[in-house]
Amino acid sequence: MRRLNLPRRPRRLRRTVAIRNMVAETAVTPADLIQPFFVIDGEGAPQDIASLPGQQRLSIRDLVAACEELYRLGVPGVALFPSLESALKDPTGTEALNPQTLVLRAIRAVKKAVPELSIITDIALDPYTSHGHDGIFNPAGTDIDNDGTVEILRKMSVLCAEAGVDFVAPSDMMDGRVEAIRESLDDAGLTETAIMAYSAKFASAYYGPFRDAVGSASAAGTTLLGKHTYQLNPANRREALLETELDELEGADVLMVKPAGPYLDIIREVRANTHLPLAAYQVSGEYAQLHAAARLGWLDLERCRDESLLAIKRAGADMILTYFAKDVALQAKG
Ligand code: PBG
Repeated sequence: MRRLNLPRRPRRLRRTVAIRNMVAETAVTPADLIQPFFVIDGEGAPQDIASLPGQQRLSIRDLVAACEELYRLGVPGVALFPSLESALKDPTGTEALNPQTLVLRAIRAVKKAVPELSIITDIALDPYTSHGHDGIFNPAGTDIDNDGTVEILRKMSVLCAEAGVDFVAPSDMMDGRVEAIRESLDDAGLTETAIMAYSAKFASAYYGPFRDAVGSASAAGTTLLGKHTYQLNPANRREALLETELDELEGADVLMVKPAGPYLDIIREVRANTHLPLAAYQVSGEYAQLHAAARLGWLDLERCRDESLLAIKRAGADMILTYFAKDVALQAKG
């Protein structure tokens, strides 16, 4: 047999586990992850969510226990999403500004029990509106009213900050909301509350299971609710970069790309274009599809889970919002 005369044999560095670990360029640890949680009112038992296997809607009491466990496992943050009964929803999302609304009570309870755990809450109206949109309609009912929605988001942000969140996370994609929210927080003396901006948030079909979980789908009568007049067109890369630049100029502390897996190119480019920390949201549909394939015996859940997170980190995300956070942390503990 003839020996190839090769100056480089890359396989030398893949020969053993020890060598492979020495040359590994990327690792995902529990400290990189943020766990989203869904919260419901009352003292009831956890409710399963059919399209999000392993995730449940939790009462505040169960949420606090889950947050304590997560913090012990080394996960530094949670994103809280309220799931409200439809009687509390109306076209203008009035309940969002109720000073005793569910998410504010949940924030206070979690902060009291686990003060070091970072809490992030969405600033958007979809859990509160009867139509499931992230904002209010204009008087003609033809589109979501940008500036009128931002007025409400300012107040929501101040309420969440006063309740103790570390980050408010505008996820609505209205123009100018980051600057407006920063101004309102500062005016209220809440200068230390940070803004994690859902900057490049695409109008994605991967949000379906989340809409089941918070009931914005049933409110709208469809999981395919079109948010194309405010969320980004999945076809557009330059426009995504423009959105992240604007949010940075408006005062965002952390930028976000969402969904994550189908948008690795965007994560990569945003990473190269800013010095701010970058978050990526591995959304409900990305989680659900791995579970569905695993259930059919077609994919190995744990290995695909780890590979999907590694890819998001490798693309340039500093932190990842993922429904897998607790599972990964449990496995890391051994
Ligand atoms: C609401 C919001 C959505 C998600 C996070 N915040 C859904 C939407 O915009 O309709 C999706 C998260 C997921 O799918 O896991 N503004």
